[in-house]
Amino acid sequence: MKGVILAGGKGSRLYPLTKITNKHLLPIYDQPMIYYPIRALVDAGIRDILIVTGGNYAGDFLQLLGNGRQFGLTSLNYTYQEGEGGIADALSLAEHFADGHKICVILGDNIIEGSIHEAVDEFRKQEAGAKILLKEVHDAERFGVAEIHGGHVVHIEEKPKQPKSNYAVTGIYMYDATVFEKVKTLEPSARGELEITDVNNAYIREGSLTFAFLEGWWTDAGTFDSLLRASNLVSQTAANKA
Ligand code: G1P
Repeated sequence: MKGVILAGGKGSRLYPLTKITNKHLLPIYDQPMIYYPIRALVDAGIRDILIVTGGNYAGDFLQLLGNGRQFGLTSLNYTYQEGEGGIADALSLAEHFADGHKICVILGDNIIEGSIHEAVDEFRKQEAGAKILLKEVHDAERFGVAEIHGGHVVHIEEKPKQPKSNYAVTGIYMYDATVFEKVKTLEPSARGELEITDVNNAYIREGSLTFAFLEGWWTDAGTFDSLLRASNLVSQTAANKA
């Protein structure tokens, strides 16, 4: 399986921190944010990784990461998203890289405590379709929210005012190669973006979306509060291990 890290966007919720750098290069405790999703993929046995970035500071990724030697990689792939078309638009740039393989996609601002190794292994065995990872949260209205019936996710709603459950859809998604055809059928949402939630709902309609619960803590880091929370969680976890 190949890995795709989505690290574009303007990071406007973090202005002025993101005025002179990309969100994913900001520090989470003692490391740049982008290190964490790279580690999550490498830990799951994924060695072929594409970073999709954009904006004015894309060159800084190359300078920081090079060929990924500090992660035990021999090469890293990069591509550039023009404009702000949303997560699914960024993902469409990975079609050539995926080259018919299954992919594990991770949003560059998602930080996890545990491992996705098991879920990735399960998806390696899954014949087709998609797999998402869920986490129970207290502020579901900030996320894609999964409605579960009879052991299946029956619908995902993007940032609902009144969430139908407490199960947030984390920014870790596994897809077969049909994902790129699905992205091509999407229409922009009210915020003018191609939504990853619409991609996942397309798999649900097809009856081919599976899910697992993510173990350990999970946070995004795209707002001041979640950026601080991410740093605190990482530092506490490091202290507990010491
Ligand atoms: C995105 C997705 C959302 C998901 C979240 C996870 O939201 O649209 O479905 O739950 O990532 O971090 P964003 O925070 O990028 O708007």
